[in-house]
Amino acid sequence: MREDLSCIWISKEQIAEKVKELAKQLDEDYKDKNPLVVCILKGAVMFFTDIVKAMTIPLEIDFMAISSYGQGATSGVVKFVKDLDVSVTGRHVIIIEDIIDTGNTLYYLKNILNGRDPASVKICALLDKYERRVADVKVDYKAFDIRDEFVVGYGLDYAEKYRNLDEIGVLKREIYEK
Ligand code: IMP
Ligand code: MG
Repeated sequence: MREDLSCIWISKEQIAEKVKELAKQLDEDYKDKNPLVVCILKGAVMFFTDIVKAMTIPLEIDFMAISSYGQGATSGVVKFVKDLDVSVTGRHVIIIEDIIDTGNTLYYLKNILNGRDPASVKICALLDKYERRVADVKVDYKAFDIRDEFVVGYGLDYAEKYRNLDEIGVLKREIYEK
Protein backbone atom coordinates (compact mmCIF):
# COMPACT_ATOMS: atom_id res chain seq x y z
CA MET A 1 0.00 0.00 0.00
CA ARG A 2 2.77 2.44 0.90
CA GLU A 3 4.18 2.37 -2.62
CA ASP A 4 0.98 4.15 -3.75
CA LEU A 5 1.78 7.19 -1.58
CA SER A 6 3.84 10.14 -2.78
CA CYS A 7 4.64 11.09 0.82
CA ILE A 8 3.66 10.52 4.42
CA TRP A 9 1.95 13.69 5.52
CA ILE A 10 1.08 13.05 9.15
CA SER A 11 2.89 10.44 11.26
CA LYS A 12 1.25 8.23 13.87
CA GLU A 13 3.15 10.11 16.58
CA GLN A 14 1.71 13.43 15.38
CA ILE A 15 -1.78 11.90 15.29
CA ALA A 16 -1.42 10.46 18.80
CA GLU A 17 -0.28 13.79 20.20
CA LYS A 18 -3.21 15.70 18.66
CA VAL A 19 -5.70 13.06 19.78
CA LYS A 20 -4.47 13.48 23.36
CA GLU A 21 -4.84 17.28 23.19
CA LEU A 22 -8.33 17.13 21.67
CA ALA A 23 -9.52 14.52 24.17
CA LYS A 24 -8.32 16.68 27.05
CA GLN A 25 -10.16 19.69 25.63
CA LEU A 26 -13.34 17.65 25.11
CA ASP A 27 -13.06 16.27 28.66
CA GLU A 28 -13.04 19.84 29.96
CA ASP A 29 -15.79 21.17 27.70
CA TYR A 30 -18.16 18.24 28.24
CA LYS A 31 -17.61 17.50 31.92
CA ASP A 32 -20.98 16.56 33.52
CA LYS A 33 -22.73 16.71 30.11
CA ASN A 34 -22.66 12.99 29.27
CA PRO A 35 -22.12 13.78 25.56
CA LEU A 36 -23.22 11.53 22.74
CA VAL A 37 -20.11 11.04 20.62
CA VAL A 38 -21.09 10.13 17.08
CA CYS A 39 -18.75 8.38 14.66
CA ILE A 40 -19.34 9.08 10.99
CA LEU A 41 -18.65 5.75 9.28
CA LYS A 42 -16.44 4.59 7.87
CA GLY A 43 -13.69 7.17 7.52
CA ALA A 44 -13.74 8.48 11.10
CA VAL A 45 -13.54 5.07 12.76
CA MET A 46 -9.84 5.14 13.78
CA PHE A 47 -9.93 8.75 14.93
CA PHE A 48 -13.18 8.13 16.81
CA THR A 49 -11.94 5.09 18.75
CA ASP A 50 -8.69 6.85 19.67
CA ILE A 51 -10.53 9.99 20.82
CA VAL A 52 -13.15 8.23 22.96
CA LYS A 53 -10.52 5.97 24.55
CA ALA A 54 -8.45 9.03 25.46
CA MET A 55 -11.46 10.79 27.01
CA THR A 56 -12.03 10.11 30.70
CA ILE A 57 -15.50 11.60 31.34
CA PRO A 58 -18.74 9.59 31.10
CA LEU A 59 -20.04 9.58 27.53
CA GLU A 60 -22.08 7.50 25.12
CA ILE A 61 -21.24 6.47 21.58
CA ASP A 62 -23.27 5.93 18.44
CA PHE A 63 -22.69 5.55 14.70
CA MET A 64 -23.97 7.13 11.54
CA ALA A 65 -23.14 6.42 7.93
CA ILE A 66 -23.24 9.04 5.23
CA SER A 67 -21.89 8.49 1.78
CA SER A 68 -20.90 11.38 -0.45
CA TYR A 69 -18.12 10.04 -2.61
CA GLY A 70 -19.14 6.67 -4.02
CA GLN A 71 -16.07 4.94 -5.40
CA GLY A 72 -14.13 7.92 -6.68
CA ALA A 73 -12.37 11.02 -5.46
CA THR A 74 -14.72 13.73 -6.68
CA SER A 75 -17.55 15.12 -4.58
CA GLY A 76 -20.99 13.81 -5.38
CA VAL A 77 -24.44 13.54 -3.87
CA VAL A 78 -24.78 13.06 -0.11
CA LYS A 79 -26.55 9.80 0.74
CA PHE A 80 -27.88 8.89 4.19
CA VAL A 81 -26.96 5.23 4.80
CA LYS A 82 -27.36 4.53 8.55
CA ASP A 83 -29.09 6.60 11.21
CA LEU A 84 -28.32 6.80 14.94
CA ASP A 85 -29.82 4.18 17.26
CA VAL A 86 -30.55 6.64 20.05
CA SER A 87 -32.46 9.92 20.25
CA VAL A 88 -30.42 13.14 20.33
CA THR A 89 -33.21 15.24 21.81
CA GLY A 90 -31.81 17.21 24.75
CA ARG A 91 -28.36 15.66 24.27
CA HIS A 92 -24.97 17.28 23.74
CA VAL A 93 -23.76 15.77 20.47
CA ILE A 94 -20.16 15.64 19.25
CA ILE A 95 -19.82 14.57 15.62
CA ILE A 96 -16.50 12.90 14.85
CA GLU A 97 -15.60 13.13 11.16
CA ASP A 98 -12.49 12.19 9.20
CA ILE A 99 -12.15 15.11 6.82
CA ILE A 100 -14.10 18.20 5.89
CA ASP A 101 -13.66 18.99 2.23
CA THR A 102 -16.44 20.98 0.54
CA GLY A 103 -18.34 20.80 3.84
CA ASN A 104 -21.50 19.56 2.11
CA THR A 105 -21.67 16.31 4.07
CA LEU A 106 -21.48 17.93 7.48
CA TYR A 107 -23.73 20.81 6.52
CA TYR A 108 -26.40 18.27 5.60
CA LEU A 109 -25.81 16.15 8.67
CA LYS A 110 -25.78 19.03 11.12
CA ASN A 111 -29.10 20.29 9.76
CA ILE A 112 -30.68 16.88 10.23
CA LEU A 113 -29.44 16.59 13.82
CA ASN A 114 -30.40 20.16 14.71
CA GLY A 115 -33.93 19.36 13.53
CA ARG A 116 -34.16 16.77 16.33
CA ASP A 117 -33.83 19.28 19.16
CA PRO A 118 -30.43 18.41 20.65
CA ALA A 119 -28.95 20.52 23.47
CA SER A 120 -25.94 21.22 21.21
CA VAL A 121 -24.15 19.85 18.14
CA LYS A 122 -20.41 20.36 17.69
CA ILE A 123 -18.04 19.04 15.04
CA CYS A 124 -14.66 17.44 15.70
CA ALA A 125 -12.68 16.67 12.54
CA LEU A 126 -9.38 14.95 11.98
CA LEU A 127 -8.57 16.95 8.85
CA ASP A 128 -9.75 20.28 7.50
CA LYS A 129 -9.21 20.78 3.75
CA TYR A 130 -10.17 24.42 4.15
CA GLU A 131 -9.25 25.59 0.61
CA ARG A 132 -12.10 23.56 -0.86
CA ARG A 133 -14.88 24.70 1.48
CA VAL A 134 -18.20 25.47 -0.22
CA ALA A 135 -20.79 25.01 2.54
CA ASP A 136 -20.74 27.21 5.63
CA VAL A 137 -19.84 24.76 8.42
CA LYS A 138 -17.97 25.58 11.59
CA VAL A 139 -15.31 23.08 12.64
CA ASP A 140 -15.34 23.34 16.43
CA TYR A 141 -12.43 20.98 17.11
CA LYS A 142 -9.84 19.86 14.59
CA ALA A 143 -6.60 17.98 14.57
CA PHE A 144 -4.93 19.21 11.36
CA ASP A 145 -5.38 21.62 8.47
CA ILE A 146 -4.34 20.14 5.13
CA ARG A 147 -3.77 21.49 1.65
CA ASP A 148 -5.83 20.38 -1.31
CA GLU A 149 -4.32 16.93 -1.88
CA PHE A 150 -6.05 13.56 -1.78
CA VAL A 151 -4.98 11.78 1.39
CA VAL A 152 -5.52 8.23 2.66
CA GLY A 153 -4.79 6.18 5.78
CA TYR A 154 -5.93 6.17 9.42
CA GLY A 155 -9.50 5.47 8.28
CA LEU A 156 -9.44 7.50 5.07
CA ASP A 157 -9.83 5.54 1.85
CA TYR A 158 -9.64 5.66 -1.87
CA ALA A 159 -12.15 3.16 -3.31
CA GLU A 160 -12.28 1.44 0.14
CA LYS A 161 -8.51 0.84 0.20
CA TYR A 162 -5.78 2.20 2.54
CA ARG A 163 -8.01 2.64 5.62
CA ASN A 164 -5.72 0.43 7.73
CA LEU A 165 -2.53 2.44 7.19
CA ASP A 166 -1.55 3.80 10.60
CA GLU A 167 -0.47 7.20 9.27
CA ILE A 168 -1.85 9.69 6.77
CA GLY A 169 -0.24 9.99 3.34
CA VAL A 170 -0.81 11.70 0.01
CA LEU A 171 -2.05 9.33 -2.67
CA LYS A 172 -0.10 9.43 -5.95
CA ARG A 173 -2.13 11.17 -8.62
CA GLU A 174 -1.76 8.33 -11.11
CA ILE A 175 -3.72 6.07 -8.74
CA TYR A 176 -6.92 8.09 -8.83
CA GLU A 177 -6.54 9.72 -12.23
CA LYS A 178 -6.10 6.54 -14.24
P1 IMP B 1 -17.38 16.96 1.83
O1 IMP B 1 -18.85 16.71 1.87
O2 IMP B 1 -16.94 17.49 0.49
O3 IMP B 1 -16.88 17.81 2.95
O4 IMP B 1 -16.70 15.55 1.86
C1 IMP B 1 -16.31 14.95 2.99
C2 IMP B 1 -16.04 13.50 2.73
O5 IMP B 1 -15.31 13.30 1.52
C3 IMP B 1 -15.14 12.95 3.80
O6 IMP B 1 -15.91 12.47 4.88
C4 IMP B 1 -14.40 11.86 3.06
O7 IMP B 1 -15.13 10.67 3.12
C5 IMP B 1 -14.32 12.33 1.64
N1 IMP B 1 -13.01 12.95 1.34
C6 IMP B 1 -12.74 14.24 1.06
N2 IMP B 1 -11.44 14.45 0.83
C7 IMP B 1 -10.85 13.25 0.99
C8 IMP B 1 -9.46 12.82 0.91
O8 IMP B 1 -8.50 13.57 0.67
N3 IMP B 1 -9.27 11.49 1.16
C9 IMP B 1 -10.26 10.60 1.44
N4 IMP B 1 -11.55 10.99 1.54
C10 IMP B 1 -11.84 12.29 1.30
MG1 MG C 1 -16.41 10.63 5.47
